Amino acid sequence: MLVGGFEVYEQIPLPPKTDYGIGIVGCGGIVNYAHLPAYRANGLNIVSCYDLDPETAARTAAEHNIPGVAGSLVELLADERVQIVDIAVPAQHQLAVVEQVAAAGKHMLCQKPLSTNYPDAVRIVELARSAGVKLAVNQQMRWDAGIRVARQLLDAGALGEPTDARIQVSVKTPWDMWPWLAASPQLEVMYHSIHYIDCLRYLFGDPARVSSFHTKYPGQKALGETKTITVLEYSSGLQILVDVNHSNWSDDISAVFRFMGTAGNIKGTIGLLYDYPKGRPDTLEFQTRQDLPDRWHKVPLSKMWIPDAFIGPMSSLMEAIQTGGEPLTSGADNLKTLQVAQLTYRSAAEKRAFEFGELDK
Ligand SMILES: NC(=O)c1ccc[n+]([C@@H]2O[C@H](COP(=O)([O-])OP(=O)(O)OC[C@H]3O[C@@H](n4cnc5c(N)ncnc54)[C@H](O)[C@@H]3O)[C@@H](O)[C@H]2O)c1
Repeated sequence: MLVGGFEVYEQIPLPPKTDYGIGIVGCGGIVNYAHLPAYRANGLNIVSCYDLDPETAARTAAEHNIPGVAGSLVELLADERVQIVDIAVPAQHQLAVVEQVAAAGKHMLCQKPLSTNYPDAVRIVELARSAGVKLAVNQQMRWDAGIRVARQLLDAGALGEPTDARIQVSVKTPWDMWPWLAASPQLEVMYHSIHYIDCLRYLFGDPARVSSFHTKYPGQKALGETKTITVLEYSSGLQILVDVNHSNWSDDISAVFRFMGTAGNIKGTIGLLYDYPKGRPDTLEFQTRQDLPDRWHKVPLSKMWIPDAFIGPMSSLMEAIQTGGEPLTSGADNLKTLQVAQLTYRSAAEKRAFEFGELDK
């Protein structure tokens, strides 16, 4: 659609071939309310699923009409119909699963974070590379409508040179819904803000330096940090702020983004966070210098982060398999997102800025 003189669209394209057999590993919350609804809506071919808990796997198969339930990972990988393995287990278990999937020579979609630590994530990427299989990471916020359209506007030059970007979120998150998450010593950035870091890298590239400040809410039960402020500095002079608070008990929650440049500005809301996991569509409006004063162009958005955006990483993986290219959220690309996330912890602990690239030295 044409808005304010710019061509924008929220649809997520599929590659020509989409009938690869998909096997699911880990049948928890996110698979049931996001992965499978998105795959079904796009007519994908889910052939089998496996979970450590057999009842969970059986229930998921019944609810989503999946023809096969595997009794073990070995059994799922031995199924010749399975060409892509969609892994959705907690991060600390992902490497062990990837070792077997890579050995079986199957392509894979991994969950974010790729690992709880950087060296294991590097190992995961190397396992897929040496096995000659494609690996994508499920950083699907890049396909969320607000971010997708922002990227299209940036590509079309609507912002000019980016100067200031910020994502500011103040919500109430019930961490106890995920006991393994509440027990994680690294919480907010690794499991939540990592989406923002990945999207900001997608929109603006890699930062030069990372600074971060982490804290907790008085008396909170979750082990890790639940409120963070991260600043990304770029050699161009661009500054980015990611400011997230998960302990807003009031009835005034917010989840907003604002991207400013020398020629234009974008502002919007992240709909999912207004009623997670149901959510609502994002909003996005933009203004160029010619629109001053008081004119903002509203882009009408209808697609949701959950489940619509969840087709993005799988679609990109399938395209990479067909073209021999790399998925948009490839393992190698994701190491950079994970590196920024990990540097926030170093920065918060040592109370100083870290150069991007520090973890590769
Ligand atoms: N991309 C996103 O936006 C997003 C959102 C939520 C969760 N996640 C990620 O998805 C993963 C799952 O999260 P969830 O919310 O569904 O958690 P969950 O606790 O609801 O489900 C996890 C499931 O994995 C199973 N499991 C654990 N280890 C396993 C193994 N080795 N083999 C097979 N099954 C195993 C458990 O039995 C459980 O059923 C996590 O890595 C999480 O970080 C991503």
